[in-house]
Amino acid sequence: MSHVSRQSTGCPPRLIGRVGLKRRLYAGADVQRAQSIEELRAMARKRVPNFCFEYVEGGAEEEISLRHNREVFTRIGFLPRTLVDVSVRRQGRRLFGQDIASPFLIGPTGFSGLLAREGDVAMASAAASAGVPFVLTNVSTTSLEEVVRRSGAQVWQQVYLYRDRAFVASVAQRAQAAGIGVLVLTTDSAVYGKREWDARNFSSPRRLDWRNKLDVLRHPRWLIDILYPHGFPRFANLGDLLPPDQTSVRGAAAAILGQSLSAALDWADVQWLRGIWPGKLVLKGVMQVEDAQRAVALGVDGIVLSNHGGRQLDGALSTMDVLPEVVAAVKGQLTVMLDGGFRRGADIVKAIALGADAVLLGRATTYGLAAGGQAGATRALEILRSEVDRVLALLACPDIDQLDASYLRRLQA
Ligand SMILES: Cc1cc2nc3c(=O)[nH]c(=O)nc-3n(C[C@H](O)[C@H](O)[C@H](O)COP(=O)(O)O)c2cc1C
Repeated sequence: MSHVSRQSTGCPPRLIGRVGLKRRLYAGADVQRAQSIEELRAMARKRVPNFCFEYVEGGAEEEISLRHNREVFTRIGFLPRTLVDVSVRRQGRRLFGQDIASPFLIGPTGFSGLLAREGDVAMASAAASAGVPFVLTNVSTTSLEEVVRRSGAQVWQQVYLYRDRAFVASVAQRAQAAGIGVLVLTTDSAVYGKREWDARNFSSPRRLDWRNKLDVLRHPRWLIDILYPHGFPRFANLGDLLPPDQTSVRGAAAAILGQSLSAALDWADVQWLRGIWPGKLVLKGVMQVEDAQRAVALGVDGIVLSNHGGRQLDGALSTMDVLPEVVAAVKGQLTVMLDGGFRRGADIVKAIALGADAVLLGRATTYGLAAGGQAGATRALEILRSEVDRVLALLACPDIDQLDASYLRRLQA
């Protein structure tokens, strides 16, 4: 074998060793060369400054939930069928009366404007070209009206419950006026998670420490893309919540969100929101069967099982741990979605086989955006779409609607 490779490259073996033909991920700038989400992650790490990458990457405290969100998929094996004609395969779904091209959508991620110029529009445009919905975070740096207008995407609006309820009502009104049909209330953020690796990059809440300042200078392409000519992007959807001189995203996450979030959020607020929002209402951050049932009772249209990508309560179970029991309790009464740790088409197929209606992507598309803007986010969606397609073929299941738990076997820990 070594003889063959020496002949085919024409290089003596010592030179091959020196140029390092070892297994390693591509970390250049051409997003089309990324084979996997992990490869986009490697590219993102190189392209954006450390403090941005760490904001995306990190979890809370010991990062137990962050790790578990990935490990959980290794404990579920596939049990493929065979000898089925899979020459035509279908992975589209129907969500809230709309067709979506794949069993996933882009979930809400804040501060995308720090990862690529006009990051929210770039992500929404990538979603539009992939035929899947895009959930716009409330902490976006482009206004919801502009994201809807410029992307042509099926946009859903996410909102936190802030102390200022009139502000929440105004977001709902603006979303309705912009033609948005789905409002997503994030329920797992009564207080801001303790993300220590993120916090370590700052010497005070809004000031990067000197190492990170130097690191920023080592990323001239990012500096031009993001900061030229207007400096740090500004929040565009938080309106009067912020004092006019504090709308910059610079180091603001913990400081601003922490002060504005309402720890008093409860079911009465959901009832209130249900009353003022005529569209579809989704709760993101549900984990317990009883809470899912309560959502049904209040006329909520959908839930996203979520531990916020391991960024809030460290040690929280993975959504894949609880999906089967929630599905057994409420399937058919509302739409059941989930997120957390989805990096492969195979992960998505496992969730659908366990009864989920769709999966929300968090870091998977965010890595793509950080690696290469809209083209990078588009590449992330392409990778996942083609992986889902291949897994369906290899499972001998040509139609995603035919997936069920018979294609899976839970492995012992
Ligand atoms: C960089 C980043 C920003 C996020 N911002 C928000 C947000 O503004 N609102 C929200 O409800 N969830 C937010 N989340 C949580 C995601 O919507 C989602 O629950 C989580 O990322 C899923 O886990 P995954 O990243 O492992 O896929 C954010 C997650 C990340 C990674």
